[in-house]
Amino acid sequence: MKKTKLGVLISGRGSNLQAIAAAVQSGTIPAEIALVLSNRPQAPGLAWAAGQGIATCALPSAGRERAEYDREVVGKLRAAGVELVCLAGYMRLLSGYFLQAYPGRILNIHPSLLPAFPGLDAAQQAVDYGVKFSGCTVHFVDETLDGGPIILQAVVPVLSGDDADTLAARILVEEHKLYPEAIRLVAGGAVRLDGRRVVRTA
Ligand code: GRF
Repeated sequence: MKKTKLGVLISGRGSNLQAIAAAVQSGTIPAEIALVLSNRPQAPGLAWAAGQGIATCALPSAGRERAEYDREVVGKLRAAGVELVCLAGYMRLLSGYFLQAYPGRILNIHPSLLPAFPGLDAAQQAVDYGVKFSGCTVHFVDETLDGGPIILQAVVPVLSGDDADTLAARILVEEHKLYPEAIRLVAGGAVRLDGRRVVRTA
């Protein structure tokens, strides 16, 4: 089976990147990581990827205009032959230019059961609201903030003693399973869009 070339965009730690890399390595997903790009040169995930022999690119975004910056990002992704873009803790909104360059080919993971608690500090939002269950969501990226069509979700209980950190850590364990599985479905052509619903085709 032909391997889908992934571009993984990060801003920090990169634990989801590591989970994706492990799934690629084990052959669980028919893909290869063609490029890891970070808008923050000091992102620990970038150093980790370089240490694994994965192609990396540090492209500082501070002070740059969004569409102009995204043009450069897309140029790097295309030069690496990237076919599917995976946002993994990438702390930037994408421009229309970026979305049009990879229509229906950009995924994101978010640490809540969307549409609840989009945006920053999702675990804190869940604790503050008092929900009994939260979780994580992998979705296609569109022009809205964490609002694109949902591919997969996993449910995680919120325990009475939880603070944002303990809840986020419990959610992260599920993220590391969910993201590779969603990539496997999309890369394998096993899902299609019906309006904003993502339906299985295989
Ligand atoms: C994850 O919680 C992810 O859901 C969110 O940002 C965090 C990134 O963590 N979008 P890591 O860099 O993958 O460890």
